[in-house]
Amino acid sequence: MITCSPGLGEYLRQEVETLGYSVETVLPAGVKLQGDQYDTMRLNLHLRTAYNVLFLLKQFKCRSPEELYREVKDFPWEDIISPREYLSVVGRTETETIDNSMYASLKVKDAVVDRINEKCGSRPNSGGDKTGVVLQVFWKDEFCRLFLNTSGLKLSDRGYRRIPHKAPLRESLAAVIIMATGYDGTMPLICPMCGSGTLAIEAALMATQRVPGLLRSNYGFMHTLYFDSAAWQEMRSTAAKQGKKRGGKSDAKPAPIIATDIDTDAVQAARRNAMTAGVDHLISFEVCDFADTPLGPGPGIIVMNPEYGQRMGEIEKLKLTYHRIGDFFKQKCTGYTGYVFTGNPDLAKQIGLRTSRKMIFFNAQIECRLLKYELYAGTRKHRDSETPKE
Ligand SMILES: C[S@@+](CC[C@H](N)C(=O)[O-])C[C@H]1O[C@@H](n2cnc3c(N)ncnc32)[C@H](O)[C@@H]1O
Repeated sequence: MITCSPGLGEYLRQEVETLGYSVETVLPAGVKLQGDQYDTMRLNLHLRTAYNVLFLLKQFKCRSPEELYREVKDFPWEDIISPREYLSVVGRTETETIDNSMYASLKVKDAVVDRINEKCGSRPNSGGDKTGVVLQVFWKDEFCRLFLNTSGLKLSDRGYRRIPHKAPLRESLAAVIIMATGYDGTMPLICPMCGSGTLAIEAALMATQRVPGLLRSNYGFMHTLYFDSAAWQEMRSTAAKQGKKRGGKSDAKPAPIIATDIDTDAVQAARRNAMTAGVDHLISFEVCDFADTPLGPGPGIIVMNPEYGQRMGEIEKLKLTYHRIGDFFKQKCTGYTGYVFTGNPDLAKQIGLRTSRKMIFFNAQIECRLLKYELYAGTRKHRDSETPKE
């Protein structure tokens, strides 16, 4: 099973199938498929939209915490986890038997370390840090599934965003937004309001087919006894060659990617993050108001992620910003396709242009929309209160 943010299952399915796997089921926040340890390594390395690649170790009927302990202890953990490793267990329970997921995690952890202690004479340390072996337990009604989280930390933590700046998008969500625009590197991509640069960086990684997992050096599967280090090194070097075919410093670049922000610190953070991701030479950065972003002639794609505000004062100020986005699109972006990603539909109405598509995504718990605007000459204006439905 591979997990992702709610609503991104279809994008994840496409990615998984492009890698040559067949998906058995698309879930609201993930997909199910069959695979072995080498598949989990490959998926961890390549996926842009996923959170975690989970490998099913055991499933069983479970009616009590004691039964959970017994079933978990009856698994040969000593074959998978060294007593010198660090273990973390995450749980989710939807059962009347217990109302505390942490208690279930604790039972699983106790069973695993007790078994290893009995078999090996010492036991792994354990805690909440997900940088070693990570186990995940899902207990629903009378049914329990126990997974190895082969990713460890979420795959969306790519490792390039050392400086997050304000309200950064999760990297996996930024990747999905770029995918949803249909971007393939052949057209200019403009990111005004770039913040820490996530959208531009994800686009540059995609345009040059750079494998996102190469940016990270630690994965959950590396901490298991079955880890095949030689196969992993081989996979990494094949993946690195794939990225170098396009967009390497000496190769032909994709169409221009431009990232701007009014805040000097944001642009500095974006530039540094792009450097860490190895794509700074593919992105032009500039400090300016979004309306002064330098645009070549269309066609091209503009993606904006304005703040959506929490407090009344902020929202009043943002109304003008959203109104100005509408003016910018209409007056300066003819021939482009514009996208605005926002969690505030009322503010979006201030843009005042007809949307040609609305896609719903979740940013943490907030329901957000990616609004699409076809910016041909004479785009119909709607300065009324309602953004029309598709
Ligand atoms: C929600 S953040 C963008 C976050 C970004 N997507 C990321 O992942 O880091 C909005 C950004 O818009 C910028 N901004 C606000 N008003 C602006 C303006 N008038 N012109 C340009 N940028 C502006 C802010 O400085 C902030 O960095």
